[in-house]
Amino acid sequence: MNHFIRKNGRLMAEEVDVEKLAQEYGTPLYVYSAATFRRHFDAFDSAFDGMNHLTCYSVKANGNLSILKLLGEMGAGVDIVSGGELYRALKAGIPGERIVFSGVGKTDEDIRRALDAGILQFNVESLEEMHSIGRVAQDCGKVANVAVRINPDVDPHTHPYISTGMKKNKFGLDLKKSLEAYRYAHEHAALVPTGIDCHIGSQLTSLDPFLEALDKLLAFYKNLQDEGINIKYLDLGGGLGITYDEEEPPHPAEFGKALKEKLAGLPLTLILEPGRVIAGNAGILVFKVLYNKKTELKHFVIVDAAMNDLVRPALYGSFHRIEEVVEQGRAPLSVDVVGGICESTDFLARDREIPAVEHGEYLVAFSAGAYGFTMASQYNARPRAAEVMVDGSNAKLVRKRETYEDLTQLEELF
Ligand code: LLP
Repeated sequence: MNHFIRKNGRLMAEEVDVEKLAQEYGTPLYVYSAATFRRHFDAFDSAFDGMNHLTCYSVKANGNLSILKLLGEMGAGVDIVSGGELYRALKAGIPGERIVFSGVGKTDEDIRRALDAGILQFNVESLEEMHSIGRVAQDCGKVANVAVRINPDVDPHTHPYISTGMKKNKFGLDLKKSLEAYRYAHEHAALVPTGIDCHIGSQLTSLDPFLEALDKLLAFYKNLQDEGINIKYLDLGGGLGITYDEEEPPHPAEFGKALKEKLAGLPLTLILEPGRVIAGNAGILVFKVLYNKKTELKHFVIVDAAMNDLVRPALYGSFHRIEEVVEQGRAPLSVDVVGGICESTDFLARDREIPAVEHGEYLVAFSAGAYGFTMASQYNARPRAAEVMVDGSNAKLVRKRETYEDLTQLEELF
């Protein structure tokens, strides 16, 4: 459920008219609904009521400071994968003890900063990384809490670019190497094994792969206990899918129930790292129709948003529902909705039935709250879009539109 609904054919973001937002702030424009963020976080987090848990929102889905602050105030922790995400999280007021740090490429500097922030746990992805964390922690006179990210070799049945828990992926360690990493950490004076971690992929629409991975983790947990290594946290990552089109992913409540059943009676605190399920349907991208262009084969609707604003269709062939912001009641046509970038992959929709639209009218792409703005770029020297947050009848610009000056401000002439 989200709060982008129609009133008399006009799209509303909560109580705010979306066309008015587009006129006031310009397009392309990301619009977020605070009530939807709250609702999604609450639905997810409360699914684990009755067991010790921490919901660590995945910053990569949407790291806007206002969103991190809103979620942080509701008790969320965060999952980060870079020094930059750590910076954002701390700036938004997320306490270090609610931060877990995943990712295969942590630098010494990232590790140092995370230790300074007193993060809850490093999710370690290689033996060499474990060595580095030990060395850096020792140098700073600190102790690092570590979990090994286990690659359980489970097929998540999702797009190959966003599956992460199979043998062929670069993520985590297999069970044998994981044990080696835990033994190393156990004996290291500056490392404490506190958890066990895995993240198998994104946009999963069935619970089975999660449960298969969890079984493997629990068997491994017993091995660790036999070795005298007692961990406290079980981090199952993110990955729960959402409805873009006709997918029917499990509700967070079903996910919660299934995990609670498997973990009943175990002295473990569950960590989850949801991104898309919180942010995806809490944001839309609004853009303007520039031109209609008919060729022998196609009808192109050329708009002022492009793959630099929302790259998911170009990169994964993803589906985003596209509609008029204000319904005009015209007959539908099959069109390609494309941007102005000089690439043939620059499309937001292909062969899509939408009502005929005219120059100057606004369109909306739904489900753009996750991996929308965070994957935006300035390709073709296009300043990045503005972001607006709506809460009830209030709307606030939470990130200004970039300017042409922003495009060049870090450059110096040779
Ligand atoms: N934890 C880790 C370690 C991750 O790598 C990810 C996502 C998450 C949590 C959050 O997963 P979620 O709950 O959002 O599925 N750009 C792609 C998605 C890439 C996901 C990468 N990792 C897309 O637009 O579909």
